[in-house]
Amino acid sequence: MKAQLLTDSFGRVHDYLRISLIDTCNLSCTYCAPVLKAIKTNNNKIMTADEIEKLASLFCDFGIKKIRLTGGEPLLRKDFSDIIYRLAKLNITLAITTNGVFIDSYLNDFLACKIRSVNVSLDTLQKEKFNQITKRNEFEKVMSNIHLLIQNNFHVKINAVVMKGVNENETLDLIMLSENLPIHIRFIEYMPFSGTSWNKEQVYDIKNIIEEMSNKFEIEKLIDDKNDTAKKYKVKNFKGTFSIITTMTDPFCETCNRLRLTADGKMKNCLFAEDETDLLTPLREGKNISELIFKNVMQKHWQQGGQEINEHTHNRNMMTIGG
Ligand code: 5AD
Repeated sequence: MKAQLLTDSFGRVHDYLRISLIDTCNLSCTYCAPVLKAIKTNNNKIMTADEIEKLASLFCDFGIKKIRLTGGEPLLRKDFSDIIYRLAKLNITLAITTNGVFIDSYLNDFLACKIRSVNVSLDTLQKEKFNQITKRNEFEKVMSNIHLLIQNNFHVKINAVVMKGVNENETLDLIMLSENLPIHIRFIEYMPFSGTSWNKEQVYDIKNIIEEMSNKFEIEKLIDDKNDTAKKYKVKNFKGTFSIITTMTDPFCETCNRLRLTADGKMKNCLFAEDETDLLTPLREGKNISELIFKNVMQKHWQQGGQEINEHTHNRNMMTIGG
């Protein structure tokens, strides 16, 4: 069976590929963008639309059923529309993670390419704090685009990275968004990536949110999807849901079905994998890359790239992985 081709040495079958389209972003979030300005990757090192299509289609032959486009900020790609029209021809679910700033310009393309699920990064509902975290003045634009998505019946998830001393006091306000909107708030624990000023004191154990919410509301545990990283809850009678992604305090590697492709064409079998397999160079040389893909999958560690996750973790910065 085709799907078995992307099975790792622990029997985990991979059917979900995340493709980073670009390693730059128009925002500069403290938890994601490197403190020192990254040296821009030379354009000819980034996959072209043609190469993305070829690689995506090869991965689909091996059993990938869902592709999520990430960045940097994927909508910064000048040929973004061209890319999604090509990927829409594959037999997959196509989804995207974006900071939300440019959604209005691409709404019709999303609809035409059957992108129905959009994850928007938003850590705060306070404009001043948004400006502090992202270093850009785009709060209103992001909020109006979130409403635009909902009006057009998209499945909208909000990714909020919770950081102690920054926004851990906003979890209730964010959940309140789901009272009257069919929106899905996801709280993510602050993870260390190269180039950011992460320290473990800033990690907020987001399981606390469940207790805080139980003190205020009647909350229900929802059934999680098989490979979900998020544990889902709902406040009774609210239209939307909220969930927690406990990467730091309670990793969920046993059900992992994800593979990643960076914008410069390197395959990563885990967000925290230090080892990468260059697929782009051999692809450009006309070589067969199937064996490289299978080998990379077989090398996947059981948990978090086989590393301790702390300030010494060896990795790229998040902007060049794509979450
Ligand atoms: N820790 C946790 N989550 C992060 N993201 C980006 N950087 C970090 C970090 N250091 C999240 C953003 C984005 C998602 C893909 O990854 O919320 O939406």
